[in-house]
Amino acid sequence: MVESKSNDVMERIVSLCKRKGLVFQSSEIYGGINGFWDYGPLGADLKRNVKDYWWRVMTRLRDDVVGLDATIIMHPKIWEASGHTTTFADPMVDCLLTKKRYRADQIEPQSGVAYHFSGAEDGPGASGDKPKTCGEPYSFLLPEGKHAEYARQAAKNFYKLRGLKDPQLLGERTENVQNSTRYNPENGSLLTEPRLFNLMFKTYVGPVESAENVAYLRPETAQAIFAQFKTVAEVSRQKVPFGICQIGKAFRNEINPRNFTFRSREFEQMELEFFIRPDEVVEAIAGGVAQPEGAGHPGKPQPNWGWQMWHKYWVEERLAFYEEIGLPRASLVEYWQKPEELAHYARATVDILYRFPFSKRDDKGELAGEELEGVAARSDFDLSQHQRFSGKSMTVFDEELKAAWAKLDEEKKAALTARYFENRRAYLVKTNEPAERAEKQARQEAAALAGGSYVPHVIEPSAGVDRLALALICNAYCEDEAPDEKGKLEKRVVMRFSPRIAPVKVAVFPLLKNRPELVAKALQVRDLLRPLMTVYYDDGGAIGRRYRRQDEAGTPFGVTIDFDTLGEQGESLKDTVTLRDRDTMKQTRVKISELPALLQERIR
Ligand code: GAP
Repeated sequence: MVESKSNDVMERIVSLCKRKGLVFQSSEIYGGINGFWDYGPLGADLKRNVKDYWWRVMTRLRDDVVGLDATIIMHPKIWEASGHTTTFADPMVDCLLTKKRYRADQIEPQSGVAYHFSGAEDGPGASGDKPKTCGEPYSFLLPEGKHAEYARQAAKNFYKLRGLKDPQLLGERTENVQNSTRYNPENGSLLTEPRLFNLMFKTYVGPVESAENVAYLRPETAQAIFAQFKTVAEVSRQKVPFGICQIGKAFRNEINPRNFTFRSREFEQMELEFFIRPDEVVEAIAGGVAQPEGAGHPGKPQPNWGWQMWHKYWVEERLAFYEEIGLPRASLVEYWQKPEELAHYARATVDILYRFPFSKRDDKGELAGEELEGVAARSDFDLSQHQRFSGKSMTVFDEELKAAWAKLDEEKKAALTARYFENRRAYLVKTNEPAERAEKQARQEAAALAGGSYVPHVIEPSAGVDRLALALICNAYCEDEAPDEKGKLEKRVVMRFSPRIAPVKVAVFPLLKNRPELVAKALQVRDLLRPLMTVYYDDGGAIGRRYRRQDEAGTPFGVTIDFDTLGEQGESLKDTVTLRDRDTMKQTRVKISELPALLQERIR
């Protein structure tokens, strides 16, 4: 089903989202604002259910992960330490004709004949005005099937934008270009040279707009976790390995927001920073470091797990999460970043991709997928950076390490110390610490292992709520046929959300609106279920129409109160209702008293 979905399907999905109030443009009455989206009643519940389930599996059901809810605006030094002020930038280019902006690294390479012009001067058409000359070169890549005159006209338009009234082109020459990213794929015009653009939204704290009051809207939630690591570890009495997780808004001034909500400027993240022992510490305590073997989940965490096992564990946990909320394994891709793609501090990163209808197709013709989440092994880079910039220690004291170290023979101590020293020295040298100072500090840090002290490493599963909500919507969208009132088959749009994350869990319908006894009973059923789940009460229109509305909303269950419920057909059916399943459209008769437990079991 996933592979057959095309961009045409995407258009229908976007239109359904608007029609059903799942997602629509922010500030729509003013024409919208690019890269910002609002979630309507159904969308808000869908997102809430996704976040609640993530929170449940990531912290509530675990002893080793605790939560955090930090501010969006933080001390600007945080972004210096994390590297965002200097390196969180994308290369951007502008079209010289339309002024439209693109990310340089997303321009498709093109080949063809480029027309180059060295400039232009005003001709007779500019009479009356002072004739102008423009010496700025301009180029145009002629689209296939177009005549050379097309390129010349585009060049004239460019020089008109430069103030010439009647441009006469100068110095025309042509060139065959191969795989060039210098031209706008949408119209062939030359693009500006790439310039780096920092993606952080800047603001000022307090009334004075001066350099010392600059602050940023966070571009990720992760940094607050690192900055508060010591406090959270202390108050929660957690010992490494343990994690801190957070859900919250993040902001990126994306150059080119696109694909509906997929790349937005304001979005939500669900991030876990799971702190682990460095491998040298694991080896000192457990006598060795386990290595991943084969595919699949590595099982329950063990004391001899180093970063590779923990990384594998979190990749598998996260894949399981997506399956638990209804994304089939076949719709997901586990992409291991190549060494040249990794961030300089990362040891490994797995991107979990979903095969969106707008994804490109790979060599086999399959949708290649787009990133939902990255699971990164980030070494001790983040905590080390905050230690360096804040001057506050980010080390932990590990009782077990201290005890184990005392029992190691001298050779082992020397080997582990040397490895740890080398890793720390390499980090410090990378941060431009002078060689001698780096060596001295790394030696001190390596010596501290004996006392049970080190900076923890981290595994980071970082997911986007909005991308996930979009994946769930795309995955749920289905067109099939269902019988109308007269039994005639008609087209039906049904959102097959997993009951676990469906915005509305059950709809309650009195068979007829004008029979007070039916309405009173239906309201009783609604009130019975409402404290336990999201219920939608609907008494408007024919029952078939009401079912159809709920199918489109993705409501997995429908409860109808009819005359049997009132006992009009005998005592045996009294206080029973029909329970309709959205996907099979089958109806079963259920006692009202059994409804709460039965439904709760199915939406858990
Ligand atoms: N702390 C690591 C981090 O932020 P990231 O890959 O930049 O890593 C993590 O972001 C996740 O956040 C992505 O996998 C994606 O789901 C979501 N995300 C990032 N940029 C986004 C955007 N512009 N719009 C929507 N979601 C975005």
